[in-house]
Amino acid sequence: MFEFTVNDNAYAVDVEPDTPLLWVLRDHLQLLGTKFGCGAGLCGACTVHLDGTATRSCVLPISAVADRRITTIEGLGGEHPVQQSWIDHSVPQCGYCQSGQIMSAVALLDGNPSPSETDIEQGMAGNICRCGTYPRIKAAIQSAAQAEYYSASHTSNETVGDDV
Ligand code: FES
Ligand code: FES
Repeated sequence: MFEFTVNDNAYAVDVEPDTPLLWVLRDHLQLLGTKFGCGAGLCGACTVHLDGTATRSCVLPISAVADRRITTIEGLGGEHPVQQSWIDHSVPQCGYCQSGQIMSAVALLDGNPSPSETDIEQGMAGNICRCGTYPRIKAAIQSAAQAEYYSASHTSNETVGDDV
């Protein structure tokens, strides 16, 4: 039995220790916003936050998350400033990669509320979008960074845990 916290809710699941967190989220907790892409830590579709850090859930065994705090796209609540900026910029095309993109963007901005273009490119480099929405992703991150409410009201810990 493995115990952990997802979006401020405590869970316990009885699975094999090497079961990837992604499949626990999707198959056991029915949190379907986190997507399967490559299954090898290469595309970013499965990105969640582990204690506030962007993490690939497809290659993270459940045995490694005991007593850790996980945040998924559902945990952002839908009105997070980064999600709002995504809407403002009409970022998604097919949408498949976007929850991973947003989770990486939130982690990036939590760590660096005023990222340069290079910071954004480097911070988002591990998230692949086959639809090529990269210019809109960058614009949305820049807008979120410039939004007064983001820098004023969101710190790292608050963003990933307390306001979701
Ligand atoms: S599905 Fe996890 S990085 Fe691609
Ligand atoms: S929006 Fe289609 S893969 Fe990114």
